[in-house]
Amino acid sequence: MNFKIKNICCIGAGYVGGPTMAVIADKCPDVKVEVVDLDVERIKKWNHKDLNKLPIYEPGLAEIVGRCREVNLFFSNSVDKKIKNADMVFISVNTPTKKKGLGAGKASDLKWVEACARQVARYSVGHTIVVEKSTLPVRTAEVIKSILKESVKSNVTAKTFDVLSNPEFLSEGSAIEDLINPDRVLIGGENENAIDLLSSIYSNWVPKNKILRTNIWSSELAKLTANAFLAQRISSINSISALCEATGADVREVARAIGSDKRIGPKFLDSGPGFGGSCFKKDILNLVYLSEYFGLPQVANFWESVVKLNDWHQHRISQLVVKKLFGTVSGKKISILGFAFKANTNDTRESAAIRICKDLLEEGAILSIHDPKVEMSQISRDLKNENQNFSKEGSWTMSEDIYDSINGSDAVVILTEWEEYTKIKWDKVSTIVRRPAWIFDSRSIIDPKKVLKNGMNFWRVGDGLN
Ligand code: UDX
Ligand code: ADP
Repeated sequence: MNFKIKNICCIGAGYVGGPTMAVIADKCPDVKVEVVDLDVERIKKWNHKDLNKLPIYEPGLAEIVGRCREVNLFFSNSVDKKIKNADMVFISVNTPTKKKGLGAGKASDLKWVEACARQVARYSVGHTIVVEKSTLPVRTAEVIKSILKESVKSNVTAKTFDVLSNPEFLSEGSAIEDLINPDRVLIGGENENAIDLLSSIYSNWVPKNKILRTNIWSSELAKLTANAFLAQRISSINSISALCEATGADVREVARAIGSDKRIGPKFLDSGPGFGGSCFKKDILNLVYLSEYFGLPQVANFWESVVKLNDWHQHRISQLVVKKLFGTVSGKKISILGFAFKANTNDTRESAAIRICKDLLEEGAILSIHDPKVEMSQISRDLKNENQNFSKEGSWTMSEDIYDSINGSDAVVILTEWEEYTKIKWDKVSTIVRRPAWIFDSRSIIDPKKVLKNGMNFWRVGDGLN
C-alpha cells in the first residue's frame, strides 16, 4: 500500500462529524481534515474565537479544536472545493425519520445522503474513497454506489470510487472518550485496499485488534442492531420499573441483581424517564421498516414494541405527576429540572422531557424549566404546539437558577441526571415550595431520606415504597 491518505473532507459538521474529525485531526497530524457544511451559522460557531461558543458541547472537544483548528483541522462552507481536494470523503449528514411519503414515520430520509453522493460524484477528482459515517439503513451503500457509478460513466476525466461503511458508535457526552478509546472500529467494504487505507487512519491510535472488518451490509446492519439492543435493555428495565412500583420491589435492586450475572452485565440497566437521543428511536424504526420491507412482520413487531414501551413509559411519568397532585396540575407551578435527553450534552432530540412537558402543558401546568446547557430557543422549538387542539394549554418559562425554578412550585420533576441536581439542598427547597410538595426523581439521583426528612413527598422511578 504505497498510497497514503493526506486530505480528508467530512460533509456535515454535526454531532458526529465535528467531534470525529477533531479527534482524527488530533491523532493524525499529517492529514489535513476539512469539515464542510451548508449551514453558515454552524460553521461560524465552529470557527468562533471563543472555544466555549462551539456549536456542540462535549467534554474535551474544545481543547482538541483549540489545538488543531487552523493547523490541520478546518471548518468551512466550501463543500465543492474541499471535495475536490479530498482522497477520502466522510458522509456525516443527518438521516432523520421520513415524515411523509413511502415509509413515513419509520424509514430514514436519505435525501441529504443522496445530495452528498451527487456532490461527491460531481466535484471529486481522481480516486476517492467515500465513507458512510452517518447511521444508514442497510443497503444505502448501494444507493451511493449507483449515483457515483453514473458520474464515472458520464465523465471524461477518470474518476473512480470505493464506498466503505464506518459507523460511529460514539455516545453524546462521552464522544471524545469514545473516539479516543473505542470498544471497536467497524469498517465494512469490498475493496481490501480501501479498507486498509481507512484502517491506517485509525491505527494511529486504535489497537489493530479493535479494528473489525466486515462486509458492507453487516457493517450497516451492526450499527442499527447495536442501538436496537441498547434501547431494548432500557425499555426492558423501564417495564420492570412499573412492575416494581406495583409490587413493592425496587428497580435499582433488581438491576443490581440481574446485572451481576456476567451474561447480562451491569450497563444500560438504569431505569429513567424513557430513552431519548437522535439514534435509538430512529434506528429501531428503521429496523422495523426494513423488516416489514423484507416480509418479516414478526421481527418488525418485536422491535416496534421497544419504541411503544418507551412512549408509554414517558406518558406514565407525566400521568403519575398529575395523579399525585390530586388529579390536576392546572394553574400549578411545576419545576422541571433537566431538558437534555441525558446529562453532559445540550442535545434535546427525542428527549423524554419534551413528551413529559407537553403532557403537563396540555394539563394546564405552569412549567419553570431549568437546564444547565440547553438554550431557551431550543426548548421553544421543542415545545411548539403543533397540535392546536390543546384544550387547556399551560405555559412555560426558563429559569437560570435551580432555586428560582423551584420557588413557589407544587412539584419538582427531575428529568436529566445533571450533577448539580445531586447537590440540591433539600432543607432550603422545603422552605420555598408550596406545600404539600412533591419531588419526582425519574433518574434515581436523590437520596429519598433527604427529601422526606424535610417534610416533602417523594416519588422515584421503580420504587415500590413510593
Ligand atoms: C447512543 C448509543 O449509545 C451510541 O453508541 C450511538 O452511536 C448513538 O446512540 P446516545 O444517543 O448519545 O448514544 O446516548 P446513550 O448514552 O446511549 O443514551 C440514550 C438514552 O438512553 C438517553 O436518553 C439515556 O438517558 C437513556 N439511558 C441510557 C437510560 O435511560 N438508562 C441507561 O441505563 C442508559
Ligand atoms: P448528526 O447527529 O448525524 O451529526 P446533525 O444534524 O448534528 O447530525 O448534523 C448533520 C449536518 O449535516 C448538519 O449541520 C447539516 O447542515 C449538514 N448537511 C446536511 N446535508 C448536507 C450537504 N448536502 N452538504 C453539506 N452539509 C450537509
